[in-house]
Amino acid sequence: MEMSPVSARMLAGILEQRTGQMLSDGRHWRLDIALDTLIRTHGFGSADAVAAAVAGGRDPALSDAVVEALLNNETSFFRDPLSFGLLIDRALPQVMAARPDRTLRIWSAGCSTGQEAYSIAMALAGIAALDDWRIDIVATDVSQAAIKQARDGEYSQFEIQRGLAVRQLVRWFDGEGDVWRARPELRARVRFHTLSVLDAPPLPARFDIILCRNVLFYFSDAVRRRAFQRLARAAAPDAFLLLGAGETAIDQTGYFTSDVDNRGLYRPVDHRAA
Ligand SMILES: C[S@@+](CC[C@H](N)C(=O)[O-])C[C@H]1O[C@@H](n2cnc3c(N)ncnc32)[C@H](O)[C@@H]1O
Repeated sequence: MEMSPVSARMLAGILEQRTGQMLSDGRHWRLDIALDTLIRTHGFGSADAVAAAVAGGRDPALSDAVVEALLNNETSFFRDPLSFGLLIDRALPQVMAARPDRTLRIWSAGCSTGQEAYSIAMALAGIAALDDWRIDIVATDVSQAAIKQARDGEYSQFEIQRGLAVRQLVRWFDGEGDVWRARPELRARVRFHTLSVLDAPPLPARFDIILCRNVLFYFSDAVRRRAFQRLARAAAPDAFLLLGAGETAIDQTGYFTSDVDNRGLYRPVDHRAA
C-alpha cells in the first residue's frame, strides 16, 4: 500500500533537514521503494508504520536509518568519462604548472561508496609525471553507510563491473568470495570522512580540484547556493570545480564561474576584487 502523503512529507522533511536533499511531492513514490528493505529488516508492516515510529521518537537510530535509506547513492567507476577527460587533460596540467611545491589536493564531495575517489586515484597513479608529487585525495559524503563501504573498499560483482576496465580490476582489486576489495595500496591513496557538503569543509588546506557531481541537483536554490559557498571556501583561488553531467554553476551562484577555455569546468570567483 502506498504511503500516506502526511507520512511521506514528514520523512521527506527529515531527509531535507539532515542533508539538504529535497524529495518533492512528485517524487514521493521513491519513499516506498527506498524504505522496502528497512521495512522488512525491522519488521514494520508498511512505510506508514516506519513514519509513525520515527514520529514517536523512541529510537533515534531509526531516523538515521531512514535518512540513509532515502539517500540516492547511485555511482560507478569513472562515471561520465568526459569529466575524467576534463580532469586529466585540462585541469591537471594547469594545476601542475602552478604548483612548484609538487603538492596536489583533491576533494571528492559527495563521493557515495567511493568509486569516484578511487577512479581519480587510479587515473593519477598512471601518470608518470606525478611520480614524485604528494597527492592528497579527500572524499566525503553525508552517508555513514556509504563512507564505511568506501573505506572498506568492498564492491559486489555488479558494482565492480560498472565502469572498471579489466586491467584496472586486476591491478587494484582482489576477489574475496563474492566481493571485490580494493587493495591496501589503493585504499591508502584516499582519506574518507562522513561530512555534509553544507558543513565546514574537510581541511584547512585549499583544494586544487573539487568534484561535486550529482549531489547538488536535488537541493533547493537557497541550499545549493550555500553549498557553492562552502565549496568556494575550500577551493584554492585557481582551483577547478567539476559538477555532474546534468549540472551547472551558471546562474546558480556568484562563487564560481565557467572556465572560458574548458567548457564543463568551473573556477572560483575572487570576491576580494569585488
Ligand atoms: C548520486 S550520488 C553521486 C556520487 C558521485 N559523486 C557520482 O557522481 O557518482 C550522490 C551522493 O551525494 C550524497 N549527498 C547527498 N547530500 C549530501 C550532502 N548534503 N553532503 C554530502 N553528501 C551528500 C549522497 O549520500 C550520495 O552518496
